Amino acid sequence: MASPSSIPIMLAHQEYNYEETPTTSLISKPPSLSSPLKNIKSLTLFSLIFVSSLSIFLAFHLISSSFSLSSVKARSLSKLPHPVVIIFSFDGFRFGYNLKTSTPNIGRLIAEGTSADEGLIPVFPTLTFPNHYSIATGLFPPYHGIINNYFPDLENPTDWFSASNHDPKWWLGEPLWQTVARNGFNAAGYFWAGTEVKKGAWTCPPKFCPKYNSSTPFFKRVDDILEYFNLPDKEIPILSMVYFEDPDREGHIYGPDHPEITKAVANMDSVVGRLITGLEKRGIFEEVTIILLGDHGMAGICDEKYVFLNELAPWIQIEDNWINSAGTLLTIQPPSGVSSAEIVQKMNEGLSSGKVGNGDMLRVYLKEDLPERFHYAESNRIPAIVGLVEEGYTVESKRKKTYECGGSHGYDNLLFSMRTFFVAHGPRFAKGKKIHSFQNIEVYNLVTAILGLKGAPNNGSISFPNSVLLKK
Ligand SMILES: *[C@@H]1O[C@H](CO)[C@@H](O)[C@H](O)[C@H]1NC(C)=O
Ligand SMILES: *[C@@H]1O[C@H](CO)[C@@H](O)[C@H](O)[C@H]1NC(C)=O
Ligand SMILES: [Zn+2]
Repeated sequence: MASPSSIPIMLAHQEYNYEETPTTSLISKPPSLSSPLKNIKSLTLFSLIFVSSLSIFLAFHLISSSFSLSSVKARSLSKLPHPVVIIFSFDGFRFGYNLKTSTPNIGRLIAEGTSADEGLIPVFPTLTFPNHYSIATGLFPPYHGIINNYFPDLENPTDWFSASNHDPKWWLGEPLWQTVARNGFNAAGYFWAGTEVKKGAWTCPPKFCPKYNSSTPFFKRVDDILEYFNLPDKEIPILSMVYFEDPDREGHIYGPDHPEITKAVANMDSVVGRLITGLEKRGIFEEVTIILLGDHGMAGICDEKYVFLNELAPWIQIEDNWINSAGTLLTIQPPSGVSSAEIVQKMNEGLSSGKVGNGDMLRVYLKEDLPERFHYAESNRIPAIVGLVEEGYTVESKRKKTYECGGSHGYDNLLFSMRTFFVAHGPRFAKGKKIHSFQNIEVYNLVTAILGLKGAPNNGSISFPNSVLLKK
């Protein structure tokens, strides 16, 4: 058998020309890894079966999507004066979570809408703030500036960005709510990363841009969005972007496979149900576009899967204040006068020596040497040295305690465990249609196309909306 992640990755490879498959090629695996592909004969037979089933699969997709595209037109609006899009982000909603339990509401949107059959691909690093802001701007993190959840201004190292920092200097690019405001419409930004930052025409109006409060019940968030439809037509926000902390919270505590996750997923389904019911009551369910997505997935972590940097002491002493971030994403900014290239060389020497616990699960790079597909170099906010951590592993400077099993994210964005979901329902989306996986930087152009607005330059492809949306 191929590794479980190889099929979706090959598909992504086809569409995006990724030059690498995830970490397998970045961190060399010990040769002892047992594989059923022991000899060339079985390898050839296997590839033959794999390639032929893949081509049948692809052919089927081509046929089915050309049918649905040519025969069905977008449905027209009769109640709303303008297209309206509501995006719900469920933090850490790993792809496939909705199959853990009965999710009739998400299921209904999938059955009656368009969904990514192998999930939505996050950007690297697979962390909450970089991804939410990539969804909002269509930009890879170096271009939108939010390159981590927490990072220093390298020109002024005492000044750190954090989640609650609303100084516009950190937040580059043009997020969707600003695009909507620039075009003279109302938008609502409900707890989404970056909405409280005043930028251009976007002033974060209190009515449509509440101050972040994690205690606000999920149903209250939905009800507030539904209330907007009681406003005079011209004032209804044409875009609402709403953030929900679950099931990421449970994922970190319990890991991705735990009854608490199943419960949280059922709860998120009831949140979707409340939105559907509210829109149906107003007779606009078929007119409003609903997009459900997440920012990243979740991988299980455990005490025995840690790498401690102090074990590298025989090769190189990594000072704590050089480390900008650890955990699933290691970034190191050595002081001036210390050679980054030399640190990288010595660290990798130690890590591959066999003498550092789990050393072969971490590989460090000068940021400019990271494979291109990570898009994680073109910003002076990104520290000189970036460490890629294998799925499920965690890096710390030294052992501080016994670590509980739980979950984490931040790893390589092509890992299947880092994928999240994408479901869309509305007048421009075909019913029961499946589309291939795509990166979340495509969402910006998709939303501006539905809203009929001219967007800002970004990293999404111009042709993406046409390949997904029904023609008007
Ligand atoms: C946050 O929300 C909770 C629940 O609605 C509320 O009781 C609390 O007052 C809010 N906190 C702030 C600072 O508004
Ligand atoms: C991403 O978009 C920005 C803004 O348009 C552009 O400057 C940058 O070159 C793009 N990067 C890539 C890798 O496409
Ligand atoms: Zn998150």
